[in-house]
Amino acid sequence: MRPKIVAANWKMNKDLSEGIQLASEVIRRIQKAKKRSVQVVLIPPFIHLTTINRLAERENIYVGAQNCHEQALGAFTGEISALMLRSVGVTFVIIGHSERRQYFKEDDTLLAKKISIALKHDLQPIFCCGESLQIREEEKPIAFVKKQLSASLFHLSQQEMSKVAIAYEPVWAIGTGKTATPEQAQIMHEAIRMQIREKYGKETADNIPILYGGSCNEQNAKKLFACPDVDGGLIGGASLQAASFISIVNSF
Ligand code: PGA
Repeated sequence: MRPKIVAANWKMNKDLSEGIQLASEVIRRIQKAKKRSVQVVLIPPFIHLTTINRLAERENIYVGAQNCHEQALGAFTGEISALMLRSVGVTFVIIGHSERRQYFKEDDTLLAKKISIALKHDLQPIFCCGESLQIREEEKPIAFVKKQLSASLFHLSQQEMSKVAIAYEPVWAIGTGKTATPEQAQIMHEAIRMQIREKYGKETADNIPILYGGSCNEQNAKKLFACPDVDGGLIGGASLQAASFISIVNSF
């Protein structure tokens, strides 16, 4: 059975003491709720990873990074590699978030390289895909997302693909307060799973977690997570408060 994952993407928020406070509060509330059927992942800015991991690892909570470079090491001033992330206990890495695509001009080819290096260094990529409002209005979202997947993931072997998680994040829903309806999410998640099935077979497709992201909050999480092909969430804004994040985790 595929895992359920709820991941907190803090983006570029929280200084160190605020990050420690938030992580500690999440951990305390999770202990209380004894919620163990969901993999909880905290994804703080790079600089907090070691500290947050020390707090989280004892509690079986995973830590992830928001990005990595496509090379393992070298003269790339200001960059962080998958090898380094692994060495400080990171388990997951977000690859291809729409903000990276938009503001840092990351394209499908670069993302394919990042996926490969993450897997090589034993990180589980959370590969983000999703269409803009214009593409949704043109009624072409499925074809667009399928192209993102085939361009950045389909060079992988079956064994590699089985270690990937996918996050469907419609760009028009990220940070806007507009969420995809459960029906819209389910249609897309099912289409993604079918595409993986066609390329890699039923077993691989059935075992890949596909998360939803984009204004997922404590009000809408339950209905989204009830969809058969929605295996959790990548949570931005609502992950910055322990109470709302835990209520999303508890929506399963
Ligand atoms: P949001 O962000 O929940 O604030 O919409 C989700 C994301 O960007 O991963």
